Amino acid sequence: MPRPRVLITAGPTREPLDPVRFLSNASTGAQGVALSAEALRRGYAVDLVHGPLEVPPPRGARLYPVETAREMLEACQALHPRCAVVIGAAAVSDYRPLRRLRQKRRRGNKAWTLALVPNEDILERLGRKKGGRVHAGFALESGDLVASARRKLHKKRLDWIVANRPDAIGASSSRYLLIGSDGAVQDLGKRTKASLARALFDAIEASPGFRERAQARPGACR
Ligand code: CTP
Repeated sequence: MPRPRVLITAGPTREPLDPVRFLSNASTGAQGVALSAEALRRGYAVDLVHGPLEVPPPRGARLYPVETAREMLEACQALHPRCAVVIGAAAVSDYRPLRRLRQKRRRGNKAWTLALVPNEDILERLGRKKGGRVHAGFALESGDLVASARRKLHKKRLDWIVANRPDAIGASSSRYLLIGSDGAVQDLGKRTKASLARALFDAIEASPGFRERAQARPGACR
């Protein structure tokens, strides 16, 4: 039985300021790990590219640990060609310090003003070479949930986007909306991360022509 590959990103990235300090966020990686576990249960081969996780990674996934957004992008670009499905669940740092100090910065009495530069959007970049793959992502929104999630779905050329609120970070359950590339919105209600993972894979597998697309991927049958 051929096993299509799924590429999943998970956890936060860390953007170093100096050898002991970094910018990051509160992501634990639990959602990406739950998605990986669900993919393995369904028989996919899983490539999990992850920042520092606060939960154990699933047994059976191929793990690609990274620290920074740039390392995550590089790992994903290397794995993307042989994957049939991509799910971006990582909380990628949108900015990194312009300069990384080689020595630890000493404490001083003056303010320290940081210059930050934008990191590239990993899903958007992979979306440029999407081909017949199914791509899915998340939209963490504090403002207008549906309109912003739809904008992200189109910009990143996603088939599916899961929209939720920042209170989902670190929470055991949260309320989710699932939006398809046709713009239709499904209210998935309040769910655990494992239950959300099942709903997202049900949607992915119901994507038009999914079976043929998954089997057509070069390297999908390893
Ligand atoms: N994402 C990504 N690369 C980035 C930023 C985000 O691949 N540099 C992915 C995330 O994994 C997620 C989706 O894009 O699947 C949306 O992330 P989110 O933080 O909600 O939005 P952003 O695109 O960063 O936009 P904004 O910060 O303006 O809300």
